[in-house]
Amino acid sequence: MKEDTKIVTAGRHPERFHGAVNPPIYRASTILFETVADLDARKPKRDSMFYGRHGTPTTFALEEALCVLEGGTECALYPSGLAACNGALLAFLEAGNHLLVADCVYGPTRRFCDHVLKRYGVETTYFDPLIGAGIEALFRPTTRVVFLESPGSLTFEVQDVPAIAAVAQKRGATVILDNTWATPLFFKALDRGVDVSVHAATKYIVGHSDAMLGVATANATAAQTLKKGATEVGFCAGPDDIYLAQRGLRTLGVRLRHQEAAALDLAGWLARRPEVARVLHPALEGDPGHALWRRDFTGASGLFGLVLEPASAAAVAAMLDGLELYGMGASWGGFESLIMPTHPERFRTATQWRAEGPSLRINVGLEDIEDLKADLDAGFTRLRAAA
Ligand SMILES: Cc1ncc(COP(=O)(O)O)c(C=O)c1O
Repeated sequence: MKEDTKIVTAGRHPERFHGAVNPPIYRASTILFETVADLDARKPKRDSMFYGRHGTPTTFALEEALCVLEGGTECALYPSGLAACNGALLAFLEAGNHLLVADCVYGPTRRFCDHVLKRYGVETTYFDPLIGAGIEALFRPTTRVVFLESPGSLTFEVQDVPAIAAVAQKRGATVILDNTWATPLFFKALDRGVDVSVHAATKYIVGHSDAMLGVATANATAAQTLKKGATEVGFCAGPDDIYLAQRGLRTLGVRLRHQEAAALDLAGWLARRPEVARVLHPALEGDPGHALWRRDFTGASGLFGLVLEPASAAAVAAMLDGLELYGMGASWGGFESLIMPTHPERFRTATQWRAEGPSLRINVGLEDIEDLKADLDAGFTRLRAAA
C-alpha cells in the first residue's frame, strides 16, 4: 500500500462501529465486567478495554494507525508532544545512566534533561547535531539513550540518523527521535535505525491548531519498554484530542504536500531578498543539510527558518507586528501561517549558534502563496523604514 492510502485507511474499522467511517469518541473511565472471574481475568466485554487510562477503541484506532505509518510494533499516546519526548526518555533511563542529546533539541526537552533527569541521577551530554558517526567518542559504558531531533525545529540541522543509530546499536543504546518536523510521511525513522519515533501530534498530525497530543512509536526491540514506561507513569490522552488527531491524520498527505511546495517557494523567494542573510531549510539546494535530507527524507514540511541581515529589535518588531496573515505564536504545523523571532543561541551548550542578524521561524499554512509573499514584502518595507 502506498503512503497516501495508508494515511486514509490505517486504524479504521467501520465494521466495528456500525459502519461509521471514523472510529467514534469513547468517553470512558470505568469499564464494567459481569463476573468476578471476568474481572480477575481482566477480560473486557468488548475489544480490549479494561480501564479508561489503558485506552478505549478511540485510543487503539490512532495507535494502530501510527504503527502502520511508522512501521512500528507499539505506539503510546501522551497528553502533549513534550510528554511524549519526556515519557519516552523516562521509559529507557534509570539512575546512573548517561544520555546523549543533540544540541538543537527543543528547549523544554532540554530543560527536562537538565532539571528532572538530573535529579534522578541521569547525566546528559549535548553533542553537535552534525557529529555523525563521530558520536562514538562521546559514548560511555553507561550511555543508554541517544535523543535526536532532525532537523532541529529552530535551526534545521539534519542529523545523520543512520550513522548515529549504527553506533548506538553497536553500543547497546536506544535511539529516540523527535520526528515532528517530517511526520511519519516524510521520514521513516524506524527504517533508518531509530528505536522510538516521537511526534508532537499537536503540530502536523492534528494539523488544525486545536488539540494537544503526543505519540511515540517503537520498533519490536523497544516496544515493551516504551509501553510499560507510559503505563507505569500513568500517561493517557483525552478522547476528544485523540479523535481530532485521527481526523487530522486523514488529510496529512494533501496538507503536507501543499505546505512543502508553498514553503519551498517562499523559502526560495526569501533567499533572494536583500534583507535576508540566509534561509534555513534542508530541502533548499545549498543548505548544509541538503545531501542528508535528499538521502533520507521523502519530503519536507512547511516549517523553516531564516536569518536576517543585521537589524534592530525595533525594526524586526515593526516588520512582524504589522503582518496581517502571519500569526505570532509558539506552535506550528497548523493550517495557518505563523512567524516568530527565535533565539537558538540561548539554548545551545555543545556548539555555538552564529547568525548574521536576527533569526525568524515561519510556519507556512494553506493560504495563497502570493498573498503570503505580499504580506512579507510589506513587512520588509517596514523593516527597512525602521532601520
Ligand atoms: C520539535 C518539537 N517537539 C516537541 C514539541 C512539544 O509539543 P507540545 O507543544 O505538543 O508539547 C514541540 C512544540 O513546539 C516541538 O516544536
